[in-house]
Amino acid sequence: MSDAIQQLQSLHHSLSQKASERLPLLAAQPALPPLTLRCADDCAFSFRYDGQQLTITPATDNNGISIDAKDWLGLSDDMEAVPPLIYGDRLRSAPGELNTLLAWEPALRAIYRGLPVYDPLAPDLIDEAGHEHDPARTYGLNDSPTTRRRALNTLGYLVVHDVFNDEEQERFRHYAQQLKAAAREDDKHSWWGKNSQGDSVLCRTLNGGDIDELAGLYQDSRITQLAALMPEGLKGANPREQDGVTVIYKNPDMSEGLSDLPWHRDCGMGGHAIMCPTVIISIYLYDATDEAGALRFLPGSHKASFGFLDAGDRNAPRGVRADARAGSVTLHYGDVMHAAPEPQGHCEHYRQSILLTYQPEYRHHRGDRHYNDILFNEREDGQVPNMKDLVDGN
Ligand SMILES: [Fe+2]
Repeated sequence: MSDAIQQLQSLHHSLSQKASERLPLLAAQPALPPLTLRCADDCAFSFRYDGQQLTITPATDNNGISIDAKDWLGLSDDMEAVPPLIYGDRLRSAPGELNTLLAWEPALRAIYRGLPVYDPLAPDLIDEAGHEHDPARTYGLNDSPTTRRRALNTLGYLVVHDVFNDEEQERFRHYAQQLKAAAREDDKHSWWGKNSQGDSVLCRTLNGGDIDELAGLYQDSRITQLAALMPEGLKGANPREQDGVTVIYKNPDMSEGLSDLPWHRDCGMGGHAIMCPTVIISIYLYDATDEAGALRFLPGSHKASFGFLDAGDRNAPRGVRADARAGSVTLHYGDVMHAAPEPQGHCEHYRQSILLTYQPEYRHHRGDRHYNDILFNEREDGQVPNMKDLVDGN
């Protein structure tokens, strides 16, 4: 028997003994359909949660989702996540079972990692000093660093106004247009989607660091002042490398691709255990109103776990809008739940922002370059398939 199978057996036997201890973490979790995972005939476990009781037991039949032992261990230590296993076609399952596994992801993280399931109706907004933070409050560069640091750590995001002046914004917009004009669908450093007319539309460019002034943003004194609010040990990306400086272009009327993003965490494609805390700095080139497709956050969700919700799900929480204007900067943890809903109206300029990334140093546990690369593996044209289409087509 392999080491991985032995580890999984002993882990689940131990978890089955203390399932009731995990129940408080599932307080916000509605009942789930039964789930069985198996990696070998003698290593299969069933998870049941009816909203009251949690049980983890050895499976008694041959049903269930087949998963590689290492991938399962990865789920248990937060190196893996469910979506990349689906995108990577790494699971064998009967129709409908992948939807069940997606629904179980937050509960599995509660079971394996001790993270509470996030409650959008009662988020924890109290900081370490006992102060409650207003999730809609915005800040300026002159506000107290301690207050801003605590707000960032408690809410998972921070909005700072009036960081870049009009001339700088004008230059940044010019650079964004320059990168857009040079991007091609098959260049592997841009993301594309389709609008309802079927036209391919640019959603982001990953090579902003090719432009010197954008590459230099990591050294800008205002950015370094904001980066000092982040946890210690995070390192700014190499701006000259792919993803070092990303530019986001929000578009209206999108029907395909990763443009209108449902609630997600950036480590949702795996690697949470090594890439978090990651903090993203966004520099806004235009006002981020609801009409322009503002980013939204679930405050405090980086300290909890929240499951996959399709963009069109009526039960999805609304969250809090990042109330940024042209020249504002936001910081957010990669693992706070955030969404990029479709623009709620028409306007001259939709949201555009320049993204800088701060992370611990880590190596991808499967040896790929970047966790999001899993999204491109199946497609040569830069289009990214929608998760719901994948699980429903299963
Ligand atoms: Fe994101």
